[in-house]
Amino acid sequence: MFTPSTKHLNGPMARSEPVFYNPAMRDNRDVSVLFERVIAEDGWNILDGLAASGAKGLRLYEEGKHDCDIVINDHSPKAFDLIHKNTEHWDRGDRITPSRRGLHGLLPEKKYNWVDIDPFGSPVDFLDGSIRAVKSKGILSITATDTAPLCGTYPTTCIRRYGSRPLHSGTMHDTGLRILVGNTIRRAAVFDVAAIPILSYFSGHYFRSYFRMKRGAKPADALLKQFGFIIRTKDEGYKIESRPEKGEVHGGPLWLGSLNDTDLLTDMISESEGSNMAISPDTIKLLHDLKAEIHSPPYVYMTDEIASKCKVHPPNTKLFVEALKEKGFNASTVHYDTKGLRTDADWMTIKELAQLMHK
Ligand SMILES: C[S@@+](CC[C@H](N)C(=O)[O-])C[C@H]1O[C@@H](n2cnc3c(N)ncnc32)[C@H](O)[C@@H]1O
Repeated sequence: MFTPSTKHLNGPMARSEPVFYNPAMRDNRDVSVLFERVIAEDGWNILDGLAASGAKGLRLYEEGKHDCDIVINDHSPKAFDLIHKNTEHWDRGDRITPSRRGLHGLLPEKKYNWVDIDPFGSPVDFLDGSIRAVKSKGILSITATDTAPLCGTYPTTCIRRYGSRPLHSGTMHDTGLRILVGNTIRRAAVFDVAAIPILSYFSGHYFRSYFRMKRGAKPADALLKQFGFIIRTKDEGYKIESRPEKGEVHGGPLWLGSLNDTDLLTDMISESEGSNMAISPDTIKLLHDLKAEIHSPPYVYMTDEIASKCKVHPPNTKLFVEALKEKGFNASTVHYDTKGLRTDADWMTIKELAQLMHK
């Protein structure tokens, strides 16, 4: 594949690159391919709406399992040239269509089984159009790289953009993901569509979420009942409430329901093991990690945060989780940071355990 030359190996890239291609987004594309192999069906039409070099759409075509029509779109002339060059080399019949349209103009013209939105920064600008362009029971997938607002460095921007207050603390990445997901659910509900989150994660510098879109006011209302707030308790713990009391430090309103579907993750893991695809070990680990935390609370403690507050050495995350489970608490690791853990244990229990393990 032709890719623009780039020096970037990790982290986000600048808009100023002539054509965006980020090798650090490989896992993002790996997950998309596995998702296609498990979820898509023959005859689907897919829109890679903000495609840059077309790397994702091309991989879906090359490594996907189904006969899908894929539109690979980017409004930049340089990106379009690259997409053309990349697709020309393949015997693609008419299943891949390079497109050089502004996405806002393209979306209302047709409905798709799967719309993928991978913008610079926030996806909010493209959300309404994308939601309306997905067929019922189809898929919407979004990426967000505006981690600073979502994680609470710029709370005012987050409130303006996503209608939700972030929480700048150890749980900020989980809260950011739930704000992004919650905002998409609320936008879809405006159109009587239930955006059911089936796969969501944070990875290094971006958030990514896939939704099954189901038409109907009732399923949309059912999702809206699963919103609430994360409260920072006075003794440094977290809890969930339907609304914060006056003066309580909080994040939300945000999605408190499940971020991932167990069966989907199981199928994607089997698919990665059963095929001869070159899926990175990091991607496979991510899927296992997401599965391990599915039934754990919607907030995260960091072991270094526990250590500094309890004046102990940071505990080993896995041992700490095991010890909490032995005490009968719900506890798990977290997919995006080896220092993170989820638990419903109260702060006193966490503190006592950290002190005990320090001895
Ligand atoms: C982050 S890059 C996409 C990365 C790509 N999906 C990948 O996997 O490498 C965002 C792209 O969106 C394109 N873009 C931004 N606004 C657009 C719009 N309104 N319509 C179409 N393309 C747009 C930019 O030219 C840029 O190439």
